[in-house]
Order: sequence, then structure tokens, then C-alpha cells
Amino acid sequence: MMEKGNKSLGSLTGLDKKYLYVQTIGCQMNVHDSEQIVALMEKEGYVCTKNVNQADLIILNTCSIREKAAQKVNSQLGRFRRLKEKNENLIIGVGGCLAQQMGERLITKVPDLDLVFGTHNIHQLPELIVEIERTGRKIVETTVHESTQSIGLLALPPIGRVTAFVTIMQGCNNFCAYCVVPYLRGREESRDIDDILHEISNLSDQGVKEITLLGQNVNSYARKRSGESGFVDLLHEIEKIEGIERIRFTTSHPKDISESLIASFAEMKKLCKHIHLPVQSGSDRILALMNRGYTRSEYLAKIEKLRKSCPDISITSDVIVGFPGETDGDFQETIDMMNEIRFDSLFSFKYSEREGTAALNMSGKVTEPLKLERLRVLQSLQEEHTLEKNRAMVGRQEKILVEGLSKNCREDVMGRTSTNKIVNFGGSIELVGEIVPVFIKEAYLHSLRGEML
Ligand code: SAH
Ligand code: SF4
Ligand code: F3S
Repeated sequence: MMEKGNKSLGSLTGLDKKYLYVQTIGCQMNVHDSEQIVALMEKEGYVCTKNVNQADLIILNTCSIREKAAQKVNSQLGRFRRLKEKNENLIIGVGGCLAQQMGERLITKVPDLDLVFGTHNIHQLPELIVEIERTGRKIVETTVHESTQSIGLLALPPIGRVTAFVTIMQGCNNFCAYCVVPYLRGREESRDIDDILHEISNLSDQGVKEITLLGQNVNSYARKRSGESGFVDLLHEIEKIEGIERIRFTTSHPKDISESLIASFAEMKKLCKHIHLPVQSGSDRILALMNRGYTRSEYLAKIEKLRKSCPDISITSDVIVGFPGETDGDFQETIDMMNEIRFDSLFSFKYSEREGTAALNMSGKVTEPLKLERLRVLQSLQEEHTLEKNRAMVGRQEKILVEGLSKNCREDVMGRTSTNKIVNFGGSIELVGEIVPVFIKEAYLHSLRGEML
């Protein structure tokens, strides 16, 4: 193993500042994991920087969901390793799903790396860094801990933030045929309810008004312990926490949405009127090949019940085009279903082959140009639907939780409707954290414009 210049631990006590640069690729889970990494390392005396050239420690939190995400990791690592020429004490660590998947192989491929750590090893990060500083050795730590002790490290978001993520479960048991997540995040494990409530109370004390509960499949929260109602019970407990005004959650699996959750949208005051319900395809044949566990008509029936319970609910989804065996007819069924449902917005992806998944060996590969063409058709249809949904908001009065200043204009503030649509309107920073009535005046593809009443 290569030796590197030893660093004195004294520098961690703040005598000379150490800078941490964190970059995240991937989903909200990774974004939240990165927040935890920052909070953990700040406790050790590190200061976050946005300037990578200044960094003493670089952490790249990676994703492996599609080939494109993996490629992005490669190009970033190429950039970071060149910084070692200027700073020989620089430590580069790679965490997250791609790190979990590749382990040792990542160090072989990119020898300038100092640390590879997995999705269950974030809490070990401070000790791993100290070990590298002390010995100069490279470390690979991707042990999967089935317990949930590694999540919810009580890392609070920065002061002034009014929204926060809270992990309620880790892992996934669903093994959809295309997906690597169950292999990288381990088996489904729900976090203890008291730990979750304690974390949310702390967040509320710090001024957080809206929380988003995170899990690959939140609807099966605590199923092993409390049957169907585990997730809804949790929502009711959270609703009692003073100071928390809004509750969101992601992601839901259509097969696990219970009647009591559907009813909750009508009954619970703090539960936001939005559900992200990935459908993936409108063809029963493809859904079965994907191992999704529901049919098109079962999905449609859930949508109907949701809209009956809560007519204003916004529904968003994910779709994959070009799954092995997808014919023009299958694709048309997806398009027909979109026309029938009219999602508020939709994330759509070209099927990407992933190592270790069941779909890898399926026949009927769809060519790249055909996948692209299907994606184009689907996305332009969705743009019409999104605009139509947003335009329907014009003339309405909405309650907006103000999150901060607008990106483009410092005289405007930005917030969201309960249905998760972004609204910009004139206002100043003092409004952050307030829920204010706003009249919606204009609608665009990605946001709305309003005026405070
Ligand atoms: N657990 C969540 C999200 C998983 S990843 C859920 O089940 O809904 C987010 C989205 O990425 C998925 O919904 C799916 O649409 C897409 N995705 C996952 N694996 C993919 C692959 N191999 N190729 C293309 N898209 C994929
Ligand atoms: Fe992947 Fe399916 Fe689990 Fe979602 S439910 S993480 S798509 S295996
Ligand atoms: Fe998320 Fe990517 Fe992992 S989508 S769970 S970071 S593979």
C-alpha cells in the first residue's frame, strides 16, 4: 500500500482549518446522506467549501441507477484526481451506491482514491478518515449493516432551512427486474418510530416546518411489526408534533398503497396533497416482466381512489422506455395510460442495463435510437400535460410555504404549494418559514408566478 504524508490530528481541533468538498450524484436519499456526511465531518472540525481547489477532503457520493450516473462519476473522479498533483495531502473518498457496487474494483480502476465506503458505512466516516491520515493506507469499507443504526445520525440541516428530509427506512425488497437498488442498499429495514419522532421534534425546534419522509418504499414502513397500518400510524404520530406544518413522503410503491393511506389525504391536515407513484409502464406484459407486482388496471384503480378521496391531489410518476421486449404496442399502451391519467409531472428514462439485475439476460433488446425516439414522444406529451395542469392553477389562491429567495430574482421569494408546485412571488427574506396566501397569476412548465394576498 502506498504511504502518504501523515497529518497531525491537531489540525482537526481547528488550529488550522480543513476544508471539505462534497459532491452528490443520485436521488434524494443520496442528497440526504450527503447532508449527514457534512454534519458528521463538521463535528470533526471540517469546514465545507464550494471551491474544490481549496479542499483537503473530497467526498463524491455516487449513484449507479443508470449508466449515465456511473459515467458522471467517472468524469468527476478524473477531475478530482488531477488535484492531487497540486496537493499531495488531499484525501479523496467515494461513497454511495456505485462505491457499494464496485468496492475494491473502484480503487483498482482509479488508484488515486484513498477511500471507498458503502451505503451503510456513513457513520464510520470520521474514524475511517482519521485512519487514513494516521497510516496513509487506502481503505475499502462496504460492509452492509442490516440494522438501521447507521441512519438518522441526528444531523440537523443548516440553520434557516425550513424543509428537511427524514429517513424512515432503508433498503428495498422488491427486486424490480431492471433495478440495482436492492443489491446496493440491502434489505428493507424500518427505523424505530421513537427515533424518527425524536429527530423530527429536534428539526421542529430548529425551525423546520416541512419534512419529507424518505425510503425506497415508504408504504411498507414497519409492516413486519404493525401490518398494513405502520406507515399511516407513523403519519398520525408526526402530525401531533408541534411546529411541523407539512408532511411529504417519497417513494410509494403502487402495490403497497393502502386504503388507509388513500383516506389520509382527505383526513390529515398536515399531509401534503401530492403523491409520487412510479408506474414504469402502461403495458401489463412489460409490468409483469419488470416484476412490479400490479397490473395497469390495478394502478388506474388506485389513481381513481386517490382522486376520489382528494380531488386536488397532484400525481407524479416515473416511466422507463425501451425495457427488453417493449414493442410499439406496449409503448402505445404507456402513452394511452398517460393520456388517461394526465400526470402533473413525470420523470422518464431510457432503460439502462445494470449489472446483476434480472433484466440483463432478457431477450428483445430495444435499440438505442428507438429508445430515444420513444423518450422524445413521451416527454413532449408530458410537457403538454404539465402545462395544462399548471395553467389550471391560474386564478386560484394557494397556501405557500416560503423556502427562500428565488434563484433568478432577489426581490422574489420561492415556495411550494401543498401539491408540490414551485411558486415565485414578490417578497423579502423575512417571509422564509411562513405559510402565506398567494394568488396564482401565471403558469410555466416548471413553475408558477403569483402575488401575495
Ligand atoms: N424506489 C423508488 C425509486 C427507484 S429509482 C421506486 O421504486 O419508485 C428511480 C427511478 O429510476 C425508478 O422509478 C425507475 O423509473 C428508474 N430506473 C431504475 N432503474 C433503472 C434502469 N435500469 N434503467 C432506467 N431507469 C431506471
Ligand atoms: Fe428499485 Fe423497484 Fe425497489 Fe424501487 S421498488 S428501489 S424500482 S427495486
Ligand atoms: Fe439513489 Fe442512485 Fe442509489 S437513485 S438509491 S443513489 S443507485
